[in-house]
Amino acid sequence: MQRILVTGGCGFIGANFIRLELQADPELAIINVDKLTYAGNLANLADMQGGPRYQFVRGDICDRELISSLLQSRDISAVINFAAETHVDRSIQDSSPFVQTNIVGTQTLLDCCRKHGVARYLQVSTDEVYGSLGDSGKFTEETPLAPNSPYSASKAAADLLVRSYCQTFGFPAVITRCSNNYGPFQFPEKLIPLFITNAMQDQPLPVYGTGLNIRDWIHVSDHCRGIALAWRNGRSGDVYNFGGNSELTNLELTDRLLSALGKPHSLIKFVPDRPGHDHRYAIDYSKAQRDLGWVPQVTFEAGLSETIAWYQSHSDWIAQVKSGEYQKFYERQYGPQT
Ligand code: NAD
Ligand code: TYD
Repeated sequence: MQRILVTGGCGFIGANFIRLELQADPELAIINVDKLTYAGNLANLADMQGGPRYQFVRGDICDRELISSLLQSRDISAVINFAAETHVDRSIQDSSPFVQTNIVGTQTLLDCCRKHGVARYLQVSTDEVYGSLGDSGKFTEETPLAPNSPYSASKAAADLLVRSYCQTFGFPAVITRCSNNYGPFQFPEKLIPLFITNAMQDQPLPVYGTGLNIRDWIHVSDHCRGIALAWRNGRSGDVYNFGGNSELTNLELTDRLLSALGKPHSLIKFVPDRPGHDHRYAIDYSKAQRDLGWVPQVTFEAGLSETIAWYQSHSDWIAQVKSGEYQKFYERQYGPQT
């Protein structure tokens, strides 16, 4: 039995990753360390709890003693770091937790992994570290880092720390950089689940600026499959980009969502633009294709309708995550009218 430590596994991508990995590999056991911030939800893995190959530990990746003790007392062959503060708009409201978790947390994990000789570390990063594209071109692994938001700056800083540990200490890390994910269990602060759940409740869909910004959408299961290949077969010191081949303007995406839900376009509400709003993301994933044999498999049409169906059949989950702190965030971000 191989045992790995996953951080941030109660969030969107981490929870999907744990489900898919435990299903795909019967010889794998996973310890999940998660602080349970507003984005971490035990319900995302409730059915895994108590299983012989899954263990949850509530904890902070900045907690050196905790991480060290987990790595010392268990035979951990890899650490996969999903834990992060992840929402650009929250990073504009307050960047402090982003610096703490995304940078100091990553440094703490790197130090603890070095100390205990962990054989593989994977840093889950984002294409947003590359900054913004014009109307043509794609990000490759060689594109210079030019982050524009406090979120992407903190992720880029973490990537540079990982790189420095590889260069300085021969540390066995790989970095993955992926475009915008969508799928089940995504917290409804991000565009797709926010707009699906608002439209389901006939609430306005707040489109920033002109709605002409472009994102490349990838189904979370394709991203997780890329991470699964990269932690097993990636080359230490290397970066791998993953993308979905599905570029859409925010307005095109909103149109599709409204049509699929049978809701009127009058729900669209244009609101002031996000400061420093990146114009376009697009990914060249030819390196992952060549070196890992990875290509995205879920078409945007199939992935979106499956995702909509998931939210439509999980109204209890939506009600739970949209209560409490969410209401305060929503009002701070969008004002009382939206
Ligand atoms: P999420 O916000 O849904 O989940 C983050 C998880 O990390 C939560 O469970 C939270 O409780 C946990 N966490 C936060 N701070 C922690 C800390 N100090 N210690 C331990 N746990 C902590 O995020 P997500 O969308 O699942 O993203 C996961 C990773 O993937 C992040 O590193 C993110 O930068 C990266 N990523 C996300 C996307 C995307 O589209 N969502 C795209 C590319 C890369
Ligand atoms: P988001 O899901 O926050 O991901 P990211 O900013 O990390 O790409 O936003 C995706 C796109 O949708 C981005 O161009 C901003 C836009 N957007 C809106 O127009 N309205 C919203 O309420 C949100 C959350 C995002």
